[in-house]
Amino acid sequence: MYYKATGRVRKEVDKDLFETVEEVFDSATVLAIIELCRRKVIYELRGVVSSGKESRIYWGKSFNNDDLAVKIYLTSSAEFRKGMIKYLAGDPRFKNIPKSTKKLITTWARKEFKNLKLMRDAGATVPKPISQYENVLVMEFIGEDGVRAPLLKEVELELSEYEELFYKVVEDVRKIYMYAGLIHGDLSEYNIMVYRDTPYIIDVSQSVSVSHPNAYNLLIRDVTNLSNFFRGLGLKIPEADELVKYITGDNHIDLSEY
Ligand SMILES: Nc1ncnc2c1ncn2[C@@H]1O[C@H](COP(=O)(O)OP(=O)(O)O)[C@@H](O)[C@H]1O
Ligand SMILES: [Mg+2]
Repeated sequence: MYYKATGRVRKEVDKDLFETVEEVFDSATVLAIIELCRRKVIYELRGVVSSGKESRIYWGKSFNNDDLAVKIYLTSSAEFRKGMIKYLAGDPRFKNIPKSTKKLITTWARKEFKNLKLMRDAGATVPKPISQYENVLVMEFIGEDGVRAPLLKEVELELSEYEELFYKVVEDVRKIYMYAGLIHGDLSEYNIMVYRDTPYIIDVSQSVSVSHPNAYNLLIRDVTNLSNFFRGLGLKIPEADELVKYITGDNHIDLSEY
């Protein structure tokens, strides 16, 4: 089922959109999608790529027929709200935390959009952010013809290929720290996609500024997650504290030793 809409949104299209998605989307979300169609960001929404607790990702098409990944934040559970506040508080970029849940979710989507932009500008490989409006984030689709690329968790590779991926991710984490001033905060084999031999770091809504009070702990957790995963495959890799030193520029270890 395709949800087709053009810049000039036709009535029956509107109806289609509502009929098919009403169970999933509230009317504000439907209106946000229609606004992104009107702005000529989204031409149509196609199948669901992933359906998480707090968000869903759809495959979409742009007016140029490029594939899009459309991430829609949905949930407003008390738990999600608490989580969002924890990561927003302490980030100097988000001094005013909205009281209304709707606004909080918009802030969260905007945060992911901004984080993607900062990371990309820092030279890290992340999906290109395209647009954000209210609770809807539009970005580059990682994959082909609506089939998403596999997660790091899902690929089966030679050890040498894993090793290459590991060092590419470490380099990106370093660029993200050094030049974007951010820490991912939820890095693991589940938030890295592998496309054309390149690791794409995804899911960056919770990423925090390096000046966040919990930044260092989050960095250690990220690096430990990575180390555990790659070590579990049989790779010999530096200790987490050495990696953290490398990433933060405290110490330039020679990664080629490993
Ligand atoms: N840009 C993208 N292109 C293609 N698929 C994506 C993209 N971003 C995310 N996905 C897919 O959607 C899933 C969920 O996205 P993610 O941002 O990790 O949200 P969450 O884990 O919060 O549900 C990912 O595991 C991946 O399979
Ligand atoms: Mg994820």
